[in-house]
Amino acid sequence: MITRESVLEALRHVRDPELNRSVVELGMVRDVVIDGDSVRLSVVLTVAGCPLKARIEEDVVNTIKQLGAKEVHVTFGAMTDEERAALAARLKGEQAKALESAQGSVPPLLAPGSPTVFIAVASGKGGVGKSTVAVNLAVALARAGHRVGLIDADIYGFSVPDLLGIDQRPTVIDDVILPVTRFGVKVMSMGFFVEENTPVIWRGPMLGKMLRHFFSDVHWGDLDYLILDLPPGTGDVALDVHQLLPQSKEILVTTPHATAAFVAARAGAMALRTHHEILGVVENMAYVTCSACGHKGPIFGQGGGEKLARELGTELLAQLPLAQPPARDIDDPDFAPGLYPADSEMGRLYARIAARIDEKCRARA
Ligand SMILES: Nc1ncnc2c1ncn2[C@@H]1O[C@H](COP(=O)(O)OP(=O)(O)O)[C@@H](O)[C@H]1O
Ligand SMILES: [Mg+2]
Repeated sequence: MITRESVLEALRHVRDPELNRSVVELGMVRDVVIDGDSVRLSVVLTVAGCPLKARIEEDVVNTIKQLGAKEVHVTFGAMTDEERAALAARLKGEQAKALESAQGSVPPLLAPGSPTVFIAVASGKGGVGKSTVAVNLAVALARAGHRVGLIDADIYGFSVPDLLGIDQRPTVIDDVILPVTRFGVKVMSMGFFVEENTPVIWRGPMLGKMLRHFFSDVHWGDLDYLILDLPPGTGDVALDVHQLLPQSKEILVTTPHATAAFVAARAGAMALRTHHEILGVVENMAYVTCSACGHKGPIFGQGGGEKLARELGTELLAQLPLAQPPARDIDDPDFAPGLYPADSEMGRLYARIAARIDEKCRARA
């Protein structure tokens, strides 16, 4: 027999996809009424227009049907301002508790002893595929089962939301921001906040400050890896990342062209001077495979990646060909113009880079 208690018990396993907590624990399930094998209940969302409403509804309905219910009616509401404030305070409290060892106001992710591995993706100049590498590496790590965050730290030149086909905005609960999850990766980008009709939370050229907000005001939860897509070159934000994240490791992206490798060496020198460990070099747009005969022909020069790796005393992680992800319809739920599918040649190359990086990072953890 279905009871109110059995419904609540079953719903304990349904999680709010953004907060990754049980909807029961979050106080979102209300007014459960049982009438034979029909169940009615209401679910209060953190914000009225929660984009994940459909998913929560599906999870709730399926879970209750598994108990044997024939009919499930879910009505949706939204938390009151007071309820939301209480929840935000609770989440903040949990973040603070994670700090425990009284690190002042250092966000838990940045506190010494944080288990999260930071990997900054850097390049000497723009257009070499740095964001593409950051995005595909993040998704490859997530596909391998790691908990991954991705910060688009290219504050002015953000492109991560576009590459991943994200049209959603983060949910903001008072002053706590929930990252947008896409292909299993938690994403935060300035791009979420600068378009029309969306709240501009940070204004003005407060570059370093914004980056700090990305750490302190975003509810990341537990992460194994946090990938940062740095702006190209050795400007303020790149420098800020180096200072803010002394423990960060780094990947350099270059094309095989000597000039690209030469300017990338400057970014590499900056990493070394700030004692960031360089995990390796990714040479992007290294060759084109002829679709007729399979011949691999270089078009943007040759040898840049290898030379850069040698100069920086690190390894060449991969040489990636020129290839476009498959074109998908914008309405396709997997629409992501910059993401290579797992079962494509590029997807497999990225899986290899992810495995190598994990091996390197875990070996020293
Ligand atoms: N291996 C590749 N093959 C084909 N196109 C690529 C490849 N890597 C990147 N691109 C494309 O090149 C452009 C620049 O890439 P992007 O990642 O935005 O570079 P960056 O962040 O260095 O400025 C984008 O249009 C991207 O889709
Ligand atoms: Mg970019």
